[in-house]
Amino acid sequence: MSRAPQDASEAPAAAEAAPAIDWDALDRAALAVRERAHAPYSGYWVGAAILVRSGRVFAGCNVENASYGLAICAERSAIVQMVAAGERDPIALTVATSGPVLGSPCGMCRQTLAEFAADLPIRLIAADGGAPPRLTSLAALLPEAFGAAALSR
Ligand code: THU
Repeated sequence: MSRAPQDASEAPAAAEAAPAIDWDALDRAALAVRERAHAPYSGYWVGAAILVRSGRVFAGCNVENASYGLAICAERSAIVQMVAAGERDPIALTVATSGPVLGSPCGMCRQTLAEFAADLPIRLIAADGGAPPRLTSLAALLPEAFGAAALSR
């Protein structure tokens, strides 16, 4: 059954308190899935782990293709798994890349995340320890995001 698009400004699920964020566990999930990246063309491996309000974690890696433009990023790979599992309420994200420059979600991934959360703490980590972790947020990375509210008439 289809469901109307969720406005990212919608209040979180009624009376369901957000669990504490176990960043260590989320980091471990992002690092583990990064090992499964299929990135033979860029050589740039990315892992993403999303914690949802129910406490489940969904992990995704980047998957490249010989037809280069078909690559899917780790963050969208994780979001797709979250939605396919029937979950729609992310509350935290860790993205693992290599250092020394921490990778942050690309524009397409930011917009995809914004479909499901108005804001979201995002932790960026370097798998090789080449940079200290950084905590940012979806609202900081994508201010004034386009959302379903703009489509209402
Ligand atoms: N990539 C991600 O997985 N996430 C991002 O947010 C940025 C880029 C991937 C796509 C491609 O496989 C590789 O990194 C180089 O761009």
